[in-house]
Amino acid sequence: MDLKPAAVVTGAGRGIGRAVAVKLSAEGYRVALTARGEDELRATAALCAGETLVLPADITSSEAIDRLFTAVEDAWGGAGVLVANAGAGESAPLVKTTDEHWARMLEVNLTAPFRCVRRVVPGMLDRGYGRIVVIASVAAKRGEPYITAYAASKHGVLGVVRSAAAEFAGTGVTVNAVCPGYVATPMTDQTVAAIADRTGRTPAQARAALAAKQPNGRLVTVDEVAGAVWLCVTNAALNGQGINVDGGGVQS
Ligand SMILES: NC(=O)c1ccc[n+]([C@@H]2O[C@H](COP(=O)([O-])OP(=O)(O)OC[C@H]3O[C@@H](n4cnc5c(N)ncnc54)[C@H](OP(=O)(O)O)[C@@H]3O)[C@@H](O)[C@H]2O)c1
Repeated sequence: MDLKPAAVVTGAGRGIGRAVAVKLSAEGYRVALTARGEDELRATAALCAGETLVLPADITSSEAIDRLFTAVEDAWGGAGVLVANAGAGESAPLVKTTDEHWARMLEVNLTAPFRCVRRVVPGMLDRGYGRIVVIASVAAKRGEPYITAYAASKHGVLGVVRSAAAEFAGTGVTVNAVCPGYVATPMTDQTVAAIADRTGRTPAQARAALAAKQPNGRLVTVDEVAGAVWLCVTNAALNGQGINVDGGGVQS
């Protein structure tokens, strides 16, 4: 049997990462699943059609990243696909954004994907094949109130993607970002709760307000995001792009 490349999906315990892992597995990929919570990873593994590795790790630790990719090399000879999806969103008015909040956003959304790319790419270059997809956000392309640190981290990671794509062009390794609008995931549930808390709106009103931010009037689905990841994995001519999956809000 023609063995497909192995994939690593970070933040695979729920939300977008789970949908991406399930999609890659359904397409015949062996998928290494990582996040901090092992129970959620096992639940994702149970939804996958084929072989998986469950590798709990805190992606903000450089050592944990090294152990993660070493485990994939030991088991499968390395990763042909990396989907750097793990991330977090915190909001606050700019003047109430503490140094700790700022550092948390940059560590998980910017530094961690950079370190994953740096760790995975030598093996990809050796093999002359790699597909790297970072889940950024439309907040990588435009700002919004109360998300200064998150938007800065996502703008930054798009810079990593674009520079890496330029540096590795022609090697068989491509690097792209998928930039969703508001997606129906547990992260958005937290955003809904925070808006309801801050504004006194009901959770249903808060969710409707987020849905209305997409010109098509609804939240993006995790499968729509996974579909854009699949495009990046299967189309070798896509490189250095940030593909917006947001119902048409950001046109760039
Ligand atoms: N939801 C949206 O509307 C939206 C929009 C645009 C972009 N995005 C981006 O899409 C990505 C996924 O978002 P989501 O909505 O699916 O989020 P989610 O439902 O909260 O899931 C996040 C995943 O990342 C993992 N994770 C978080 N911090 C981690 C850490 N320090 N180490 C390892 N794993 C960690 C979580 O697992 P553990 O907590 O168990 O570690 C979980 O599996 C993020 O990068 C996010 O910024 C989301």
